[in-house]
Amino acid sequence: MSHPALTRAEAFCQTYGLRLPILLAPMAGACPPGLAAAVANAGGLGACGALLMQPEGIARWIEEFRGQSHGALQINLWLPHPPPLRDAANEAALRRFLKNFGPEVPLAAANTTTPDFAGQFEAALAARPAIISSIMGVFPAALVARMKAAGIKYFATVTTVAEARAAMAGGADAIIAQGAEAGGHRGAFDAAAAERAAIGLFALLPAVADAVNIPIIAAGGIADGRTIAAALLLGAAAVQIGTGYLRTPEAAIAPAWAAALAEANPEDTQLTRAFSGRAGRSLITPYLRAAAVVAAPPPAPYPVQRGLTQPMRDAAMRDDNLAHMQVWSGQAARLAPASPAAEVTVDWWAAARTLLEI
Ligand SMILES: Cc1cc2nc3c(=O)[nH]c(=O)nc-3n(C[C@H](O)[C@H](O)[C@H](O)COP(=O)(O)O)c2cc1C
Repeated sequence: MSHPALTRAEAFCQTYGLRLPILLAPMAGACPPGLAAAVANAGGLGACGALLMQPEGIARWIEEFRGQSHGALQINLWLPHPPPLRDAANEAALRRFLKNFGPEVPLAAANTTTPDFAGQFEAALAARPAIISSIMGVFPAALVARMKAAGIKYFATVTTVAEARAAMAGGADAIIAQGAEAGGHRGAFDAAAAERAAIGLFALLPAVADAVNIPIIAAGGIADGRTIAAALLLGAAAVQIGTGYLRTPEAAIAPAWAAALAEANPEDTQLTRAFSGRAGRSLITPYLRAAAVVAAPPPAPYPVQRGLTQPMRDAAMRDDNLAHMQVWSGQAARLAPASPAAEVTVDWWAAARTLLEI
């Protein structure tokens, strides 16, 4: 006899053509096609974090993925951000401050923009993935209707019960419930509420499960058999894992970042706006400590802060310098294995199954 949690996971796998209920998290800048293909070939769901990609980049990424896997895939898009409120004096203070951690920041760095959302959406639709997912809000109804007409399912990332209800009302086929433990940006629909509404997955999952009647995918702090089994018991039908894959060779992140993840305890991460202007969870670094002192200029809004920190972040990547690098990390970083992604995926599920079998 199967545990009800296993039965729920098996039903989800059947719907989406998976052999195990593990989704690679879409990680803008950190989910190359080879990593997505490895997870998909192991029976999970691949992911493309397309935030920073132009439409041609999305098409190229998909082509590369499909050269390595016939498995299923989600393409993830951020809802467009509101125009940032500019503050020239604070931007000047930030440019002076950031010079302490990297090269001179050009004046124009603050004028950065993100790729046009409408173009990204068309490219995602044209690629015909199994799933397109949203973060930072719910897609407009007209776009959801076009996805459905094309046979593409809609997964919506949420961080609260109210957001889960809004996503279901907006036509989501499944909810990705992102707990406060998660690495990378928080998906709060109201960017200003991201820190206040940082809900741990242990409280969020059952509350969302009681509020919606569509499948829930749990994200945040999951990176071994124990945490997968716990998420399924709390009401999830599947799990989405980001940080847990970052030390696999396929992820190919900077060596200093990968090494630091292996040593990090949960308290060694924090939510910060100092990289991009939106709240995200990162390893605590000397740059983040300096940016948090009262005398430091407050971060500019997204994506102005992202533009201003780009020279520092680029130089740090080049020099493999952890102190000034953008090192997103969830609270379960230390569990992340440094083994091939396919092996990791299969081992995680075997361990979770053992815990859930009656
Ligand atoms: C490096 C990195 C980049 C991320 N980029 C995105 C993104 O572009 N879109 C998105 O929906 N989530 C993004 N996330 C969040 C993940 O989808 C997911 O919620 C998170 O990784 C789950 O928590 P975990 O890191 O503890 O596994 C990112 C996470 C990381 C670590």
